[in-house]
Amino acid sequence: MASCNPQTPANRAAWLSAAKARPLAVKLAQYPSPKANEIVVRNAAIAINPSDWLKQDSGDFLYSWVKYPFVLGSDTAGTVVETGFSVTRFTAGDRVVGHAVGIDEQSNSSAEGTFQTYTVLRAEMTSPLPDSMSFESASVIPLGASTAACGLFEKDKLALQAPSTSPKLTGKTLLIWGGSTSVGLNAIQLAVAAGYEVFATASPKNHAYVKSLGASRVFDYNSPTVITDLRKAFEGKTTAGALTMGAGSADASMEVLKHCSGNKFIAMATYPTPSPPPQSLVLLKTVYAFMSWSVVWYFKSKMNGIRSNFIFGSTLAFNGVGKLIYEDFLPEALAQGSFVPAPEPKIVGEGLESIQAGLDIQKLGVSAKKVVVTL
Ligand SMILES: NC(=O)c1ccc[n+]([C@@H]2O[C@H](COP(=O)([O-])OP(=O)(O)OC[C@H]3O[C@@H](n4cnc5c(N)ncnc54)[C@H](OP(=O)(O)O)[C@@H]3O)[C@@H](O)[C@H]2O)c1
Repeated sequence: MASCNPQTPANRAAWLSAAKARPLAVKLAQYPSPKANEIVVRNAAIAINPSDWLKQDSGDFLYSWVKYPFVLGSDTAGTVVETGFSVTRFTAGDRVVGHAVGIDEQSNSSAEGTFQTYTVLRAEMTSPLPDSMSFESASVIPLGASTAACGLFEKDKLALQAPSTSPKLTGKTLLIWGGSTSVGLNAIQLAVAAGYEVFATASPKNHAYVKSLGASRVFDYNSPTVITDLRKAFEGKTTAGALTMGAGSADASMEVLKHCSGNKFIAMATYPTPSPPPQSLVLLKTVYAFMSWSVVWYFKSKMNGIRSNFIFGSTLAFNGVGKLIYEDFLPEALAQGSFVPAPEPKIVGEGLESIQAGLDIQKLGVSAKKVVVTL
């Protein structure tokens, strides 16, 4: 699989060599050439998401289209090495941050995974980085911001007004359940930039941080009174709907939204399946849990006038929302500091060999932190 051309740089990847294989195997990989509207980036820092270890743990249950060996990883910050035909926004040497969508079924390509030295990024899923922003700091942005953007701006999700560096206020209030998650911290900033007031949930230790990014009020999701407190807070407000992350977040948000006036729509990032999936009878138990939840959810949402949809955090690459974020909004917002990388990086190692440890650390759980490996 190594390149035979002495002109192309040598590439190495941390491969998922078979279903459930661990550790990731660090080996040579083909140097990926950019096609039209693509760039090749030398990764300087990559971040790790729950989907990375969920794919490794669950085998073919998730992302069943993936053929092995495969290169996982969605988040990178690095330097442009090459640009493909028709790319005008970037040239070699530019510092960038981007969301690599190799795991999406429409791409399904190891070249677009970040757990390697060189990664192909789609130009419209990439933003230039201000000189003052470190690669480590920037690498936390992509999947968090993309998933948030899918939920907030896609037509079949919350379909909110687009974000801008000079937001037009809407007078509407959005609930972000899971405000201290990586997705939530990006969602708060995007929603505020789109002109919405945000109420969020988080553990009390993260309330100040969540507020510093733009939430006007933050509630402890473990408090026995959280639903009542949120219902009171929404009195007299018009809701823009809810974006939900974390176990039980959709059900709890329904209990709040059903008493609100406005858009009773819930965009769900967390799927109602056991996480991590059970190790025995995996398929049967998980499908049963999902089906039972779906039947109850269907009837409860009908009764309460709630509409909902699940988010898949890479669909924005194929429907124009990616361009809205990475081309139209983030470059200016990052440059002027109105959008900041969040959460803080938790750097756990250096080199492709450290990525497996990164997956294991992410799986143990983080609180308002993003696991990052420098390359
Ligand atoms: N559908 C998609 O395409 C997609 C894409 C990305 C992520 N996701 C999902 O979205 C969720 C968030 O992902 P992430 O990477 O942002 O997670 P993360 O940063 O790893 O999440 C850690 C945070 O979760 C919070 N949390 C834990 N349980 C919670 C609950 N029951 N309610 C609210 N918050 C809770 C914790 O908050 P405190 O420390 O404040 O307690 C912690 O800060 C995950 O379920 C992930 O699988 C889905």
